[in-house]
Amino acid sequence: MTIASVMLAAGHGTRMKSALPKVLHPVLGKPLVLHALSAVEKVVDIPPVVVVGHGAEDVQAVIQAGTEHEVQFAVQEPQLGTGHAVMCARELLQGKSEQVLITFADMPLLTQASIERIIQLRQESQSVMVITTVMAEEPRGFGRVIRAEDGSVIAIVEEVDCTPEQLLVREKNTSAYCVDADWLWKSLDSLKPSSKGEYYITDLVALAVAEGKRVSAHILEDPVEGLGINDRVDLADTERALRMRVNRNWMRQGVTFIDPWTTTVGLDVILAQDVVLQPNTMLYGKTSIGKNSVIGPNTTLTDTQVGENCVIQYSVAESAQIGNHVSMGPFAHLRKGAVLKDYVHIGNFGEVKDSVLGENTKMGHFSYIGNADIGKDVNIGAGTITCNFDGKNKNHTEIGDHVFIGSDTMLVAPLKIGKNATTAAGAVVTRDVPENTLVIGVPAKPKERKD
Ligand code: UD1
Ligand code: CA
Repeated sequence: MTIASVMLAAGHGTRMKSALPKVLHPVLGKPLVLHALSAVEKVVDIPPVVVVGHGAEDVQAVIQAGTEHEVQFAVQEPQLGTGHAVMCARELLQGKSEQVLITFADMPLLTQASIERIIQLRQESQSVMVITTVMAEEPRGFGRVIRAEDGSVIAIVEEVDCTPEQLLVREKNTSAYCVDADWLWKSLDSLKPSSKGEYYITDLVALAVAEGKRVSAHILEDPVEGLGINDRVDLADTERALRMRVNRNWMRQGVTFIDPWTTTVGLDVILAQDVVLQPNTMLYGKTSIGKNSVIGPNTTLTDTQVGENCVIQYSVAESAQIGNHVSMGPFAHLRKGAVLKDYVHIGNFGEVKDSVLGENTKMGHFSYIGNADIGKDVNIGAGTITCNFDGKNKNHTEIGDHVFIGSDTMLVAPLKIGKNATTAAGAVVTRDVPENTLVIGVPAKPKERKD
């Protein structure tokens, strides 16, 4: 049976108290609406319709930039409730499918598997509509699912309209529906405004039952899937739930988390077997970590590729590439374009930007390396600085293999230091240094070696 989908994303999200539309707030770095869409996209036969309203332009732009699939938009203006929002999609979808999936953009944890299950249940149970529910300890704030004595679903009642008895019902509506398309498009016109003057999608249930039609409920096994975001407390709960879902998945694939509750792994991150993540580690963007590497504690890596057998602690890296057997930290910072080849060591308070450090090069303490190409087996003494910025331009430094840079050397770029050269401690190097040469002093001059 063909299926279309409507995703509601037009509401104001007043309870977020934010200038940003609710559905654009991120969890695990990704806007809510994109999480919700990714569960729907692969299930539907025609491009999903997203109903936008509040902040429509921004919401549309984020969706278009954030998904590879085609998406259609319907505008709801003004926003007169969830039933009214679905009406706004009617023009785009009526006559295009046999059934319609309705979901909310503020429910990022609902999985594709659950969506497939509610579609299947509608067919199996020959229901005109399937609703999705959770048995909650504390259903406060949600619509309650009202069942007849035989257990059949007869209504969803919003909390404000509940009788004291209905308020005690623990089964809450979590707002994912699969509905017979012809019946849906026809019945929307029968919705009556609520006590708040809104048209509720939830009123379709009583409407169907009054027509003698069957409505079934899919009770979500994992209540986390039903988390919907109304305010920032929900946002934090959802972030934690998603973090744990992702982390458990990696644990099952052979990654050790010392403290998964404080470890954040973004959705596009790739981890190899036997990686160990220490507490307070945050991996974002297109970061990947190779076999046996130990990351953390207190380390944030963004868009950074790390090889095998590395140890990185108390450090930060963004858009960097790290080879195998690299040790880094505590307190090192790699910025955009930093490349560390195999066996590099960077100790405390080192910063590298737009530079390559060749194999087995060591930079133990307090150094800044920017816009530099450094060969292999180079020793970078404590306090070394590439003076790469002259106030106007970023200038380049080149250092050959096996060079020894003495402590506290200032390398005033542009500069080339030939292989096997040495700079003495405290040298201020303003001119190129030939191979096998020792330079010394301020400004540094070549000195005959007496060895
Ligand atoms: C809704 C349900 C409630 C359910 C709860 C959680 C209704 C009437 N109530 O209430 O039974 O327990 O979700 O799943 O449906 N939206 C629009 N246009 C509008 C209003 C809302 O697009 O005019 C969108 C919002 O952007 C949001 C979603 O619909 O994505 C839900 O709106 P919200 O106001 O949060 O509904 P609830 O009060 O939570
Ligand atoms: Ca809600």
